[in-house]
Amino acid sequence: MSLKKAYEQYFKMGTSVSRYDMKSDKAMEELVKHYSSMTAENDMKPMFMLDKETTLSDPEKYNLQPAMNYDTARKYLEFARDNGIALRGHTLGWHNQTPIWFFKEGFQDNFEAPWASRETMLARLEWYIKNVLSFVQTEYPGVIYAWDVVNEAIEERNEEGWRKRSPWYQTLGEDFVINAFRFARKYAAPGVKLFYNDYNTFDPFKRETIMNFIVKPLMEEKLIDGIGMQTHLTMEHVEKAMDEYEKTLRFFGATGLEIHVTELDVHNADPSEAGMLKLAEAYKTLFTLYVNAKKEGAANLTSVTFWGMKDDVSWLTGFRKERSYPLLFGDNWEEKDAYHAVVKVPEELA
Ligand code: GLA
Repeated sequence: MSLKKAYEQYFKMGTSVSRYDMKSDKAMEELVKHYSSMTAENDMKPMFMLDKETTLSDPEKYNLQPAMNYDTARKYLEFARDNGIALRGHTLGWHNQTPIWFFKEGFQDNFEAPWASRETMLARLEWYIKNVLSFVQTEYPGVIYAWDVVNEAIEERNEEGWRKRSPWYQTLGEDFVINAFRFARKYAAPGVKLFYNDYNTFDPFKRETIMNFIVKPLMEEKLIDGIGMQTHLTMEHVEKAMDEYEKTLRFFGATGLEIHVTELDVHNADPSEAGMLKLAEAYKTLFTLYVNAKKEGAANLTSVTFWGMKDDVSWLTGFRKERSYPLLFGDNWEEKDAYHAVVKVPEELA
Protein backbone atom coordinates (compact mmCIF):
# COMPACT_ATOMS: atom_id res chain seq x y z
CA MET A 1 0.00 0.00 0.00
CA SER A 2 1.41 3.39 -0.93
CA LEU A 3 1.08 6.46 1.28
CA LYS A 4 -0.92 8.38 -1.29
CA LYS A 5 -3.31 5.51 -1.81
CA ALA A 6 -3.86 5.06 1.92
CA TYR A 7 -4.85 8.72 2.30
CA GLU A 8 -6.50 9.25 -1.08
CA GLN A 9 -9.93 10.02 0.37
CA TYR A 10 -8.57 12.54 2.89
CA PHE A 11 -5.68 14.62 1.56
CA LYS A 12 -2.67 14.69 -0.74
CA MET A 13 0.48 13.08 0.59
CA GLY A 14 3.62 15.02 -0.17
CA THR A 15 7.33 15.23 0.42
CA SER A 16 10.10 17.73 0.00
CA VAL A 17 12.55 16.87 -2.76
CA SER A 18 16.16 18.01 -2.95
CA ARG A 19 18.48 18.38 -5.93
CA TYR A 20 20.25 15.21 -4.70
CA ASP A 21 16.97 13.31 -4.71
CA MET A 22 16.39 14.53 -8.25
CA LYS A 23 19.59 12.77 -9.33
CA SER A 24 18.64 9.46 -7.72
CA ASP A 25 16.52 7.07 -9.80
CA LYS A 26 15.47 5.25 -6.65
CA ALA A 27 14.32 8.46 -4.98
CA MET A 28 12.30 9.42 -8.06
CA GLU A 29 10.73 5.96 -8.16
CA GLU A 30 9.68 6.27 -4.50
CA LEU A 31 8.43 9.80 -5.11
CA VAL A 32 6.12 8.62 -7.87
CA LYS A 33 5.02 5.59 -5.89
CA HIS A 34 4.12 7.24 -2.60
CA TYR A 35 3.39 10.92 -3.09
CA SER A 36 0.79 13.03 -4.87
CA SER A 37 2.42 16.35 -3.94
CA MET A 38 6.01 17.58 -3.88
CA THR A 39 7.84 20.67 -2.65
CA ALA A 40 11.33 21.72 -3.75
CA GLU A 41 13.34 21.62 -0.53
CA ASN A 42 15.43 24.64 -1.57
CA ASP A 43 15.60 25.22 -5.30
CA MET A 44 12.53 27.38 -5.73
CA LYS A 45 13.44 29.81 -2.95
CA PRO A 46 14.44 33.37 -3.89
CA MET A 47 18.18 32.70 -3.55
CA PHE A 48 17.95 30.22 -6.41
CA MET A 49 15.42 32.07 -8.56
CA LEU A 50 17.19 35.44 -8.52
CA ASP A 51 20.05 35.86 -10.97
CA LYS A 52 22.72 37.52 -8.86
CA GLU A 53 25.40 37.86 -11.49
CA THR A 54 23.19 39.59 -14.03
CA THR A 55 21.41 41.80 -11.51
CA LEU A 56 24.60 42.99 -9.82
CA SER A 57 26.30 43.59 -13.15
CA ASP A 58 24.01 46.57 -13.77
CA PRO A 59 22.20 47.62 -10.57
CA GLU A 60 20.69 50.68 -12.14
CA LYS A 61 19.12 48.80 -15.01
CA TYR A 62 17.76 46.04 -12.76
CA ASN A 63 16.90 48.24 -9.78
CA LEU A 64 13.13 47.64 -9.84
CA GLN A 65 13.20 44.46 -11.90
CA PRO A 66 15.95 42.09 -10.76
CA ALA A 67 17.02 39.43 -13.26
CA MET A 68 15.68 35.91 -12.75
CA ASN A 69 17.06 32.46 -13.49
CA TYR A 70 14.71 29.50 -13.56
CA ASP A 71 17.13 26.74 -14.49
CA THR A 72 17.01 25.00 -11.10
CA ALA A 73 13.23 25.38 -10.78
CA ARG A 74 12.51 23.90 -14.20
CA LYS A 75 13.65 20.41 -13.20
CA TYR A 76 11.03 20.20 -10.45
CA LEU A 77 8.30 21.70 -12.62
CA GLU A 78 9.06 19.27 -15.43
CA PHE A 79 9.20 16.24 -13.17
CA ALA A 80 5.97 17.16 -11.45
CA ARG A 81 4.20 17.80 -14.76
CA ASP A 82 5.48 14.63 -16.45
CA ASN A 83 4.57 12.42 -13.50
CA GLY A 84 1.24 13.95 -12.56
CA ILE A 85 2.42 15.14 -9.14
CA ALA A 86 1.03 18.41 -7.79
CA LEU A 87 3.73 20.92 -6.81
CA ARG A 88 3.65 23.29 -3.80
CA GLY A 89 5.41 26.55 -4.58
CA HIS A 90 7.78 27.33 -1.72
CA THR A 91 8.32 30.19 -1.03
CA LEU A 92 7.88 33.79 -2.25
CA GLY A 93 8.32 36.12 0.73
CA TRP A 94 10.76 34.94 3.39
CA HIS A 95 13.49 36.54 5.53
CA ASN A 96 15.71 33.51 5.02
CA GLN A 97 17.32 32.19 1.84
CA THR A 98 16.65 35.51 0.14
CA PRO A 99 19.96 37.25 -0.58
CA ILE A 100 20.73 40.38 1.40
CA TRP A 101 21.54 42.39 -1.75
CA PHE A 102 17.92 42.03 -2.84
CA PHE A 103 16.95 44.39 0.01
CA LYS A 104 19.74 46.91 -0.38
CA GLU A 105 20.12 50.22 -2.13
CA GLY A 106 21.84 49.65 -5.47
CA PHE A 107 21.87 45.89 -4.73
CA GLN A 108 24.96 46.27 -2.55
CA ASP A 109 25.97 42.80 -1.41
CA ASN A 110 26.76 43.89 2.11
CA PHE A 111 24.85 43.72 5.40
CA GLU A 112 25.94 47.24 6.40
CA ALA A 113 24.67 48.93 3.23
CA PRO A 114 21.50 51.05 3.52
CA TRP A 115 18.16 49.37 2.90
CA ALA A 116 16.45 50.19 -0.36
CA SER A 117 13.52 52.59 -0.02
CA ARG A 118 10.00 51.39 0.68
CA GLU A 119 8.95 52.35 -2.82
CA THR A 120 11.82 50.38 -4.36
CA MET A 121 11.08 47.33 -2.23
CA LEU A 122 7.40 47.36 -3.12
CA ALA A 123 8.38 47.44 -6.78
CA ARG A 124 10.91 44.61 -6.34
CA LEU A 125 8.37 42.52 -4.40
CA GLU A 126 5.70 42.99 -7.05
CA TRP A 127 8.18 42.27 -9.83
CA TYR A 128 9.44 39.12 -8.14
CA ILE A 129 5.99 37.69 -7.51
CA LYS A 130 4.68 38.67 -10.92
CA ASN A 131 7.68 37.22 -12.71
CA VAL A 132 7.73 33.92 -10.85
CA LEU A 133 3.99 33.34 -11.16
CA SER A 134 3.90 34.30 -14.83
CA PHE A 135 6.82 32.01 -15.57
CA VAL A 136 5.32 28.93 -13.94
CA GLN A 137 1.82 29.62 -15.17
CA THR A 138 2.89 30.21 -18.75
CA GLU A 139 5.39 27.42 -19.13
CA TYR A 140 3.96 24.87 -16.68
CA PRO A 141 0.26 25.69 -16.39
CA GLY A 142 -1.60 23.83 -13.67
CA VAL A 143 1.50 22.26 -12.10
CA ILE A 144 1.72 24.45 -8.98
CA TYR A 145 -1.47 24.18 -6.94
CA ALA A 146 -0.48 26.31 -3.95
CA TRP A 147 2.11 28.93 -3.02
CA ASP A 148 3.58 29.79 0.33
CA VAL A 149 3.26 33.51 -0.32
CA VAL A 150 4.78 34.47 3.03
CA ASN A 151 6.82 32.21 5.28
CA GLU A 152 7.53 32.84 8.99
CA ALA A 153 6.60 36.50 9.51
CA ILE A 154 5.71 35.94 13.18
CA GLU A 155 8.05 35.10 16.03
CA GLU A 156 6.82 33.25 19.10
CA ARG A 157 9.46 34.63 21.43
CA ASN A 158 8.94 38.24 20.49
CA GLU A 159 6.09 39.75 22.44
CA GLU A 160 5.28 42.18 19.72
CA GLY A 161 4.70 39.28 17.38
CA TRP A 162 6.30 40.47 14.19
CA ARG A 163 9.67 39.11 13.13
CA LYS A 164 11.29 42.50 13.30
CA ARG A 165 14.77 41.51 12.23
CA SER A 166 13.48 40.28 8.88
CA PRO A 167 14.72 42.43 6.00
CA TRP A 168 11.13 42.49 4.81
CA TYR A 169 10.03 44.02 8.09
CA GLN A 170 12.98 46.38 8.05
CA THR A 171 12.11 47.69 4.60
CA LEU A 172 8.31 47.45 4.43
CA GLY A 173 7.18 47.02 8.02
CA GLU A 174 3.95 45.29 8.94
CA ASP A 175 2.25 45.66 5.61
CA PHE A 176 4.85 43.52 3.85
CA VAL A 177 2.48 40.62 4.34
CA ILE A 178 -0.66 42.17 2.92
CA ASN A 179 1.24 43.63 -0.02
CA ALA A 180 2.80 40.27 -0.83
CA PHE A 181 -0.66 38.66 -0.84
CA ARG A 182 -2.16 41.47 -2.92
CA PHE A 183 0.50 40.96 -5.56
CA ALA A 184 0.15 37.20 -5.40
CA ARG A 185 -3.62 37.40 -5.83
CA LYS A 186 -3.21 39.82 -8.72
CA TYR A 187 -0.92 37.49 -10.66
CA ALA A 188 -1.98 33.99 -9.54
CA ALA A 189 -3.99 31.96 -12.03
CA PRO A 190 -7.54 31.11 -10.91
CA GLY A 191 -7.52 28.09 -8.62
CA VAL A 192 -3.94 28.53 -7.42
CA LYS A 193 -4.17 28.63 -3.62
CA LEU A 194 -2.33 31.24 -1.57
CA PHE A 195 -0.92 30.18 1.81
CA TYR A 196 0.66 31.70 4.87
CA ASN A 197 3.14 29.19 6.32
CA ASP A 198 4.85 29.07 9.73
CA TYR A 199 6.47 26.78 12.31
CA ASN A 200 5.62 26.03 15.96
CA THR A 201 2.03 27.04 15.39
CA PHE A 202 1.11 24.93 18.43
CA ASP A 203 2.55 27.74 20.55
CA PRO A 204 -0.58 29.55 21.87
CA PHE A 205 0.89 33.04 21.48
CA LYS A 206 2.01 32.31 17.97
CA ARG A 207 -1.33 30.76 17.00
CA GLU A 208 -3.23 33.84 18.21
CA THR A 209 -0.79 36.27 16.67
CA ILE A 210 -0.88 34.56 13.28
CA MET A 211 -4.66 34.70 13.41
CA ASN A 212 -4.88 38.36 14.43
CA PHE A 213 -1.97 39.88 12.53
CA ILE A 214 -2.07 37.79 9.38
CA VAL A 215 -5.08 35.60 8.74
CA LYS A 216 -7.92 37.97 9.70
CA PRO A 217 -6.73 40.99 7.71
CA LEU A 218 -6.00 38.78 4.70
CA MET A 219 -9.41 37.12 4.92
CA GLU A 220 -11.12 40.51 4.94
CA GLU A 221 -9.67 41.17 1.51
CA LYS A 222 -10.13 37.54 0.37
CA LEU A 223 -6.40 37.29 -0.21
CA ILE A 224 -5.66 34.02 1.59
CA ASP A 225 -6.83 30.49 0.77
CA GLY A 226 -4.94 28.47 3.31
CA ILE A 227 -2.69 28.20 6.33
CA GLY A 228 0.43 26.05 6.34
CA MET A 229 1.47 24.36 9.59
CA GLN A 230 5.10 23.43 9.04
CA THR A 231 5.19 20.84 11.84
CA HIS A 232 8.90 20.40 12.47
CA LEU A 233 8.52 18.59 15.80
CA THR A 234 10.69 16.91 18.41
CA MET A 235 9.80 13.88 20.53
CA GLU A 236 9.35 16.31 23.41
CA HIS A 237 6.74 18.25 21.46
CA VAL A 238 4.96 14.99 20.76
CA GLU A 239 4.91 14.20 24.48
CA LYS A 240 3.88 17.65 25.67
CA ALA A 241 2.32 19.74 22.93
CA MET A 242 -0.09 17.52 21.01
CA ASP A 243 -3.15 19.02 22.68
CA GLU A 244 -2.05 22.48 21.66
CA TYR A 245 -1.17 21.22 18.20
CA GLU A 246 -4.63 19.76 17.70
CA LYS A 247 -6.16 22.94 19.08
CA THR A 248 -4.27 24.95 16.47
CA LEU A 249 -5.37 22.65 13.66
CA ARG A 250 -8.99 23.10 14.67
CA PHE A 251 -8.63 26.81 15.45
CA PHE A 252 -7.17 27.48 12.00
CA GLY A 253 -9.63 25.00 10.52
CA ALA A 254 -12.58 26.96 11.95
CA THR A 255 -11.77 29.82 9.55
CA GLY A 256 -12.91 27.56 6.71
CA LEU A 257 -9.58 28.08 4.96
CA GLU A 258 -7.67 25.09 3.65
CA ILE A 259 -5.00 23.69 5.94
CA HIS A 260 -1.76 22.14 4.70
CA VAL A 261 0.77 20.40 6.89
CA THR A 262 3.76 21.58 4.91
CA GLU A 263 7.01 20.33 6.48
CA LEU A 264 6.36 17.36 8.73
CA ASP A 265 9.20 15.65 10.59
CA VAL A 266 9.84 14.52 14.17
CA HIS A 267 13.42 14.80 15.36
CA ASN A 268 14.43 11.53 16.97
CA ALA A 269 18.04 10.70 17.86
CA ASP A 270 17.39 7.20 19.16
CA PRO A 271 17.60 4.58 16.40
CA SER A 272 17.02 1.63 18.78
CA GLU A 273 13.94 -0.49 18.32
CA ALA A 274 12.31 1.27 21.26
CA GLY A 275 13.17 4.68 19.80
CA MET A 276 11.71 3.77 16.44
CA LEU A 277 8.53 2.42 18.03
CA LYS A 278 8.16 5.68 19.89
CA LEU A 279 8.52 7.55 16.62
CA ALA A 280 5.88 5.31 15.06
CA GLU A 281 3.52 6.16 17.94
CA ALA A 282 4.19 9.85 17.40
CA TYR A 283 3.23 9.63 13.74
CA LYS A 284 0.20 7.55 14.58
CA THR A 285 -0.95 10.26 16.98
CA LEU A 286 -0.45 12.94 14.34
CA PHE A 287 -2.21 11.14 11.51
CA THR A 288 -5.05 10.12 13.79
CA LEU A 289 -5.70 13.72 14.67
CA TYR A 290 -5.41 14.75 11.00
CA VAL A 291 -7.94 12.18 9.83
CA ASN A 292 -10.32 12.86 12.71
CA ALA A 293 -10.26 16.62 12.14
CA LYS A 294 -10.92 16.05 8.46
CA LYS A 295 -13.71 13.53 8.98
CA GLU A 296 -15.44 15.70 11.55
CA GLY A 297 -15.25 18.71 9.24
CA ALA A 298 -13.19 20.54 11.87
CA ALA A 299 -10.35 21.34 9.45
CA ASN A 300 -10.29 21.23 5.68
CA LEU A 301 -6.89 19.56 5.62
CA THR A 302 -6.04 19.00 1.97
CA SER A 303 -2.33 18.17 1.93
CA VAL A 304 0.27 16.68 4.30
CA THR A 305 3.93 16.97 3.27
CA PHE A 306 6.91 15.27 4.91
CA TRP A 307 10.15 17.23 5.00
CA GLY A 308 12.19 14.51 3.32
CA MET A 309 11.68 10.90 2.32
CA LYS A 310 14.41 9.03 4.21
CA ASP A 311 16.38 9.51 7.40
CA ASP A 312 19.87 10.08 6.03
CA VAL A 313 18.83 13.04 3.87
CA SER A 314 16.97 14.91 6.62
CA TRP A 315 18.07 18.48 7.35
CA LEU A 316 17.60 17.69 11.06
CA THR A 317 20.96 15.94 11.50
CA GLY A 318 22.72 19.18 10.59
CA PHE A 319 20.29 21.46 12.37
CA ARG A 320 20.19 19.52 15.67
CA LYS A 321 23.88 18.60 15.51
CA GLU A 322 23.15 14.95 16.21
CA ARG A 323 22.19 12.14 13.87
CA SER A 324 18.44 12.20 13.42
CA TYR A 325 16.10 9.34 12.47
CA PRO A 326 12.92 11.37 11.94
CA LEU A 327 11.16 10.00 8.87
CA LEU A 328 9.20 7.03 7.54
CA PHE A 329 11.96 5.38 5.52
CA GLY A 330 15.42 4.32 6.65
CA ASP A 331 18.74 5.07 4.95
CA ASN A 332 18.29 2.17 2.53
CA TRP A 333 14.63 2.88 1.90
CA GLU A 334 13.49 0.26 4.38
CA GLU A 335 9.93 0.87 5.56
CA LYS A 336 10.22 1.80 9.22
CA ASP A 337 7.67 1.11 11.96
CA ALA A 338 6.63 4.73 11.47
CA TYR A 339 5.75 4.00 7.85
CA HIS A 340 3.59 1.02 8.81
CA ALA A 341 1.90 3.03 11.55
CA VAL A 342 1.04 5.89 9.17
CA VAL A 343 -0.28 3.63 6.41
CA LYS A 344 -2.57 1.83 8.86
CA VAL A 345 -4.28 4.84 10.42
CA PRO A 346 -7.05 5.27 7.81
CA GLU A 347 -8.22 1.64 8.03
CA GLU A 348 -8.01 1.70 11.82
CA LEU A 349 -10.29 4.73 11.91
CA ALA A 350 -12.64 3.47 9.21
C1 GLA B 1 11.79 26.23 7.21
C2 GLA B 1 11.53 26.46 5.73
C3 GLA B 1 11.90 25.28 4.89
C4 GLA B 1 13.21 24.67 5.32
C5 GLA B 1 13.18 24.36 6.79
C6 GLA B 1 14.45 23.74 7.25
O1 GLA B 1 10.84 25.49 7.81
O2 GLA B 1 10.22 26.82 5.46
O3 GLA B 1 11.98 25.67 3.57
O4 GLA B 1 14.26 25.55 5.03
O5 GLA B 1 12.99 25.57 7.48
O6 GLA B 1 14.97 22.82 6.37
